[in-house]
Amino acid sequence: MQTVKVDLADRSYMVYIGSGILGKQHPAFDVTTGSTVLIVSNETVAPLYMETAKKSLAGADVHSLILPDGETYKTMEYWSKIIDKLIEIRATRDATIVTLGGGVIGDMGGFAAASYMRGINFIQIPTTLLSQVDASVGGKTGFNHPMGKNLIGAFHQPGAVLVDIETLKTLPTREFSAGLAEVVKIAAIRDADFLDWLENNSVAIMAREPGVITSMIKRSIANKADVVAEDERESGVRALLNFGHSFAHALETLTGYTLYLHGEAVAIGMMVAGRLSELRGLCATGFSNRLGTLLQSFDLPLDLPANLDTTDVLETMKLDKKIIAGSARLILVESAGQGIIDSSSERTQIVAAIKTCQAKS
Ligand SMILES: NC(=O)c1ccc[n+]([C@@H]2O[C@H](COP(=O)([O-])OP(=O)(O)OC[C@H]3O[C@@H](n4cnc5c(N)ncnc54)[C@H](O)[C@@H]3O)[C@@H](O)[C@H]2O)c1
Ligand SMILES: [Zn+2]
Repeated sequence: MQTVKVDLADRSYMVYIGSGILGKQHPAFDVTTGSTVLIVSNETVAPLYMETAKKSLAGADVHSLILPDGETYKTMEYWSKIIDKLIEIRATRDATIVTLGGGVIGDMGGFAAASYMRGINFIQIPTTLLSQVDASVGGKTGFNHPMGKNLIGAFHQPGAVLVDIETLKTLPTREFSAGLAEVVKIAAIRDADFLDWLENNSVAIMAREPGVITSMIKRSIANKADVVAEDERESGVRALLNFGHSFAHALETLTGYTLYLHGEAVAIGMMVAGRLSELRGLCATGFSNRLGTLLQSFDLPLDLPANLDTTDVLETMKLDKKIIAGSARLILVESAGQGIIDSSSERTQIVAAIKTCQAKS
């Protein structure tokens, strides 16, 4: 088993990564005998892993709540259902929430933990690649509002994260690729050697070879943990993790969240940001082609739809909460593995970058 420490003073915690570790007694489940535990999962993941997860919690007073599956249920209504359940089982401040599922369950269960009785412990068991490498680490929790994604939430760090790569065996191929987009993102903005490694191991990654997958997840988490340790509340360097995301969010909004998985939109968004970095002369020509080849080897899309209006993209980006005070604050790259926060792109340059990434109709 591999471990990564997220170093946040008294909120520090360990991420455990291994194969077949779920279901065993484990230091991640340091819950006192007899204490109340609520496992929150969904209709897809619970039949696959709920019973195994319960075995790891033998001795505790374990309850479970199974929610419907999907981003459309990441709402106040379903957050309320978690709170209702905690009240029903008479959970006190020493209770623990265990989130078993992808980023939707992790974010919403995490926010229930952040808000119930002003904050209780929670343990993340992420079961999608995206949530293993990204969403489960760093303490961002919350749910969506009809006016925007993740508008309600809190920073609330988990007590531990347990990544069992066995769970990836049941993950649909498209979801696996979407998770790889976030892996490429972290390599592109802060780890040039990792980017080389991903290129050299792309075939083994797509074959989900356990050793290679474990190394990849560990390195992604270690990178994210370093960023979070430096800037827990995103007042600086943590914004680099939004590489490709301003464009991705616009694309997701304009296509009604139905055409792309988040990671797919991020892949396209990174291509736009890469092209813009080249166009601005910030990084050498060739970077975005390199990025494109890697993303393509992970079966990710590179192009924006041909019929998408660039004005609409820009308008939607203005609504994106990550763009401050009307100036296009974007994450660009200076070289492979070196992201920067930049506000000096002009509208015409952004439009040109979008157009280069638009599929020819
Ligand atoms: N908190 C953060 O820092 C952070 C970072 C990135 C994304 N997110 C959030 O994460 C969410 C996206 O997460 P996601 O991509 O994991 O989506 P998801 O939680 O919707 O999971 C994707 C699909 O895979 C299914 N699934 C999960 N594990 C499975 C398994 N092992 N086998 C088979 N099916 C499985 C789920 O039921 C779902 O249908 C978004 O809401 C996003 O806002 C949060
Ligand atoms: Zn993302």
